[in-house]
Amino acid sequence: MSRGKNKDRNLCFSDLVTNALQGLSPIQTIMKMTEPEYIASLGFASEDIISFGGGWCNHASPPELQQIYQEIVSDKTLFHASGRYSAIKGNLSCRKQLCRFEETVYQVPEMTPDQVLIGQSATQLFHDVIRVLINPGEPVCVMDPTYANYVNGLKCALPESPLWFVPGLDPISWEYLSDPSYSLEVLESYCKQGARVFVVSTPDNPTSQIPPDDFINDAYELIEKYNGFFIVDYAYKELCFDQEPVCQSWSPGDFPHFISIHSHSKWLSSLGRRFGWVEANEKVIEGLEKIDESTILSADTLNSMATERFIEHMISQNTLRTYIDDIKMLYKHTAQVFTKCLKTCTDWKYLDPMGGLYTCCPTPNNQDPLSFAQTLLKETGVLVIPGLGFGPSLSKGIRLSYGPLCTDHEKIKEGMQRIQSYLSK
Ligand SMILES: Cc1ncc(COP(=O)(O)O)c(C=O)c1O
Repeated sequence: MSRGKNKDRNLCFSDLVTNALQGLSPIQTIMKMTEPEYIASLGFASEDIISFGGGWCNHASPPELQQIYQEIVSDKTLFHASGRYSAIKGNLSCRKQLCRFEETVYQVPEMTPDQVLIGQSATQLFHDVIRVLINPGEPVCVMDPTYANYVNGLKCALPESPLWFVPGLDPISWEYLSDPSYSLEVLESYCKQGARVFVVSTPDNPTSQIPPDDFINDAYELIEKYNGFFIVDYAYKELCFDQEPVCQSWSPGDFPHFISIHSHSKWLSSLGRRFGWVEANEKVIEGLEKIDESTILSADTLNSMATERFIEHMISQNTLRTYIDDIKMLYKHTAQVFTKCLKTCTDWKYLDPMGGLYTCCPTPNNQDPLSFAQTLLKETGVLVIPGLGFGPSLSKGIRLSYGPLCTDHEKIKEGMQRIQSYLSK
């Protein structure tokens, strides 16, 4: 039989792909709404769209980093070295610099390279950490709302494992963690039912909140009591505006049940240069090494070499903290512009960002967020993200992002004014 003839044949795939991952995931919904074809189908040119949708930083990467990439690429020996596999855990010299980074910027005491593993990204590392810690079917606890990609990330890692939501945002009062002791009670009841893993992102996506220190301390103690793991996703660690979470200086030596996942996507404005790392007890890192051998085999050596050199250079020049403070200020100021416009142009409730790139609002008149976001986009060319995939508390809410507009505050003003005219119709 010649190839290509039997096109209608039923091809069989896993239940994961055929059933569990069917339909658009929250992340795909977000991506779809920003696709040029979709925008064009609404009659807009892409430059007419004002997006409060994107979950990314938009400041320029530091020139020192660009210079370092240039040096590696233009040097024959270094470029050759960047084409070699890294060790599965990531190269020792880079892991040493990550320890220095944590000590210099956050006073993380005495972390050793054996407590660090470099991976492809926070996304990949979330998947692999989950595979290390729990068995199929065991639940994972997260805040409500939480980062939308955990839903499918968990389905891929452990298809039968459910996500259990710990109350965070009150959908009526629109307060965050207004009753921490109740949230901890819920977490404890989950632990009694067998949950051993609690994942928190701080500052958070989508709320940009930082849970109070007492909550973090108590949650850690609770998880430790049940011999589980408290995972903090630090995708926005460098973007805490004022208050910084107590756990930012925890070291794996002092907190063996604590695992942190890091990424340079946001603070180095390097989303497409994939690089992330995990800090954890040596035993966790050993487990992770086994999983990573099969999922990525090697961290990206070029990105590791560049990151290592960047950290070394910035520490030697005493400019690392200044760089981080500068980007913090940029996003803090952008958040202030954003919330000021939001207050002027709408009567929506919102969460005051404590870091990160976002705020969340309830949809007007309790509308379904998907149809609200679609109508708003059609009528105004302003994109907001429906809250559906982030957790039950945002089932009538939207996420708005100011990150991509950090250097274009006029667009924030214009976008809010368009929303204001639409609401007043
Ligand atoms: C909380 C959180 N974790 C992880 C990621 C993804 O990080 P990475 O680019 O390293 O995969 C994001 C991206 O938006 C995020 O918001």
